[in-house]
Amino acid sequence: MQRRDFLHTLLAAAGSTALGAHATVSADPTAAAFAAAQASHPWTLGYVGLQQDAASMALNVQGRMPAGLAGRFYRNGPARHLLGGERYHHLFDGDGMVQQYTLSDQGVTHRGRFVRTEKFLADSAAGHPVRAAFGTNPPGAEAVTAPDAINVANTSVLQHGGRFMALWEGGSATEMDAQTLDTRGPRVWSPDYAGMPFSAHPKIEPDGTLWNFGISSSAGLLSIYHIKPGGDLAAATSIKVPDIAMVHDFAVTERHLVFLLPPLVFDRDRAEAGETFLDSHVWRPELGLRVLLLAKDRLDAPQWFTLPAGFVFHIGNACEEKGVVRLDCIRSPSAWAATTALKDLMRGQYAEKEHTAVALLELNPATGQAEQRLLPLVAEFPRVDPRIVGRTYRQVFTAARVDAGDRPGFDAVMRLDVATGAHELYRYGREVMVEEHLFVPRPGSRNEGEGWVMGTALDLARRQMLLSVFDAQHLADGPLVQARMDRVMPLGLHAIFVPA
Ligand SMILES: [Fe+2]
Repeated sequence: MQRRDFLHTLLAAAGSTALGAHATVSADPTAAAFAAAQASHPWTLGYVGLQQDAASMALNVQGRMPAGLAGRFYRNGPARHLLGGERYHHLFDGDGMVQQYTLSDQGVTHRGRFVRTEKFLADSAAGHPVRAAFGTNPPGAEAVTAPDAINVANTSVLQHGGRFMALWEGGSATEMDAQTLDTRGPRVWSPDYAGMPFSAHPKIEPDGTLWNFGISSSAGLLSIYHIKPGGDLAAATSIKVPDIAMVHDFAVTERHLVFLLPPLVFDRDRAEAGETFLDSHVWRPELGLRVLLLAKDRLDAPQWFTLPAGFVFHIGNACEEKGVVRLDCIRSPSAWAATTALKDLMRGQYAEKEHTAVALLELNPATGQAEQRLLPLVAEFPRVDPRIVGRTYRQVFTAARVDAGDRPGFDAVMRLDVATGAHELYRYGREVMVEEHLFVPRPGSRNEGEGWVMGTALDLARRQMLLSVFDAQHLADGPLVQARMDRVMPLGLHAIFVPA
């Protein structure tokens, strides 16, 4: 008997006993565990997910919108965690929904639409997942024919060269209409690179030049995209990397590209044995955290550095000073969050095993030496002023965890001075789950950090979403303006702001 048929038999036998107002019996073990946890773990509200697009809704605005601040705040994230009674096993599996908060002197409105990827349409038509996901191989899943067959477009958004795109990392960027959020389809940069991985963390330099990368795990390839300010491809190339790792983000400087390769290494045998993509990776701490430095004009001449083993999702920024490359990242002692905690989350479970820290790195190409300094700050989602990407910088804005209690995620937003380690915080409180906050330059300003910090959060007590805007240099004073929405959206990943 197929597992799916077996589960349906179980479901029929179990009947439909209600467990509570927000829980239903499911034969799917992940769905059943999550439903059981909902009554006692309010934080699970952020991970219930949605089944439908979110129609336009006005927010209740408290405070006054700063003069000069108008535009659209977009956030992407996994939003359909459950389909046909089957719940995905990992936070990164669900179909992407792009949310759009429109800010103007008329107020704030919100809407959200699922990205109509090939996978979203195939799964929707079947009524249950029929395509593999990052951490879930559904029973009886179709063979994966191409990266875009399993593209969920659920990680970030990009506005560049007149195009608006939802980003994943294992396949194409997906073009959308920035206003209606209609899906247009995969962005093809060149025929050779059609359908190739394009990461969710492209870097746009001050002149509009975009750099990005993609990891083709089974081929052991790192692809690099160099895209002109107008959106056309200048060049794309791929280099072979030994022991290819899970790499989610990278950094640029004026002369270099920087990749941090955690020792979470792809194992082809595991993949061929039918493990999920995530579980096809093996933690090999003996490799250390490898750092790959590539000169922009010599992509064929890699320079390698090694740091103590650790896992990194995100890098804030990088720059070069007197020949030394300096960068900040968010580091964990192991890949526990990626491999375990984000699976536990989908079953409604949370255990505090390890936390992130801010790491300040220095790479000296002349000596081959790499150094790391850790700051005891629990943070994630580092963002910087877009005007100083790859240039000398001091300020990084992050979500932070100060006193969140017995639940996952963040309860504060932070501004960190990477030169001194000084930081300023605004604490939302234990009952508010904080998503990524980004920096928006004030029109007409010139200096780094002149502008606003903007981000969303889930108020668990009031079952509302908050969109808050702070003066970036006075976070501790609290929001200048805060808009509340009487519905809960799934907690997501990355955001951008597109000025009006
Ligand atoms: Fe990310």
